[in-house]
This record gives sequence, C-alpha cells and structure tokens, in this order.
Amino acid sequence: MAGWFRSRSGCWSWPAFAEAMAGKPAAAGDDPGKTVCACFNVGESTLRRAIAAQGLTTVEQIGACLKAGSNCGSCVPELKRLLGAAVAG
Ligand code: FES
Repeated sequence: MAGWFRSRSGCWSWPAFAEAMAGKPAAAGDDPGKTVCACFNVGESTLRRAIAAQGLTTVEQIGACLKAGSNCGSCVPELKRLLGAAVAG
C-alpha cells in the first residue's frame, strides 16, 4: 500500500499507519471502531488490525506503533484485554 513503510523498530510508522488505518479510512472496512485510546483517538478495530498484522504482544509495542497507552494510561487495561483476546485467538 502506498505510503506505508516500516521503521527501524519494525513498526509501521505512526503517521502512515494512523492515516491509513484510523484517521482517514480508505474504505468502509477500515472503520477504526469504538475509541479505546482517547488521548490519541485510536479505535478498537485499528488496534485489533495492528496487533494481528504486526504481531504486537505488549502494551509497550502498541504504544511504539500507535501511541495508544503512552500518555495518561487509562486505556492500558483495555489494551491488555485486546492483547489477551488476540493471544486467545
Ligand atoms: S486514553 Fe490512552 S493514553 Fe490516555
């Protein structure tokens, strides 16, 4: 997909990922979902896609890729729930 690239950390760059996945949905299927991280306006669907596509396993990795959970921390329990759901399958 044009404009997407991986940073040296292995994550999609935040601006490219956010623009493609959350901020500017390219198609109806790209709905970011209900907002999980209000600080950075990151939705549940965006998080689920990132966790699956990039193999994220920790809240820190989510923060590095999407910034979610890296400010006030109030969304961290929900991020952990999503990570747990991804591992459970
Ligand atoms: S709501 Fe996610 S860091 Fe504040």
